Amino acid sequence: MRIIKANDYADMSRKAANVLSAQVILKPNSVLGLATGSTPLGMYRQLIEWHRKGDIDFSEVTTINLDEYIGLAPRHPQSYRWFMDNNLFRHINIKPANTHVPDGLEPDEARESSRYEALIQGCGGIDMQLLGIGHNGHIGFNEPGAAFEKNTHRVPLTDTTIHANSRFFPDGDVPREAYTMGIRSIMQARRILVVVSGKSKAEIARRAFFGAVTPQIPASVLQLHNNVTLVGDAEALSLY
Ligand code: PGA
Repeated sequence: MRIIKANDYADMSRKAANVLSAQVILKPNSVLGLATGSTPLGMYRQLIEWHRKGDIDFSEVTTINLDEYIGLAPRHPQSYRWFMDNNLFRHINIKPANTHVPDGLEPDEARESSRYEALIQGCGGIDMQLLGIGHNGHIGFNEPGAAFEKNTHRVPLTDTTIHANSRFFPDGDVPREAYTMGIRSIMQARRILVVVSGKSKAEIARRAFFGAVTPQIPASVLQLHNNVTLVGDAEALSLY
């Protein structure tokens, strides 16, 4: 695991954007696995800025997102499709048809799982997968205890996630399930870029990346991947 220690969130965002843009510059038709959450936002803003300056061209890039809530339409403001469109895709020159997020409106798990895996394989696999990690060590919606051998599948959200999300759903209609790439799909990416920021992530970063590999901390499996770059700010890496 290559560890890049940044001073603060802005520095982490710039360093992570550097790694991802190097991937795109060296392979313009890269397949990028992307993630939502607050951690990658600064990195996405940096990529948008460099794109506007003419330094990165996304015209041949394909993106495949990690996860999506079940039951939310793409135009729902809490959907991950909406998040990606508004925080990245519509600000860069990526072709909308080359951006992929699981279909939260597909009720048939087997159908959506096999469609998504076929999509990943059909693109030739993921060149670089971006990941944030949850406070409990989750990656995507692979929560503690998740089997390492799963591909894209349907998962119930944990009570803490449902509770944390409820503030975004004033009508009380909080999603209770999601589609997520499984640990197996994530581990098949050729390169993995993990971003982690802030004091509240220091303990889980220490356990995930410098402790035992265990399904109880899903991100710990990344220690078994042969090409992981971890970009963390000083607070998040303070215990390592
Ligand atoms: P965060 O989420 O970037 O908002 O901390 C990370 C995650 O839960 O995967």
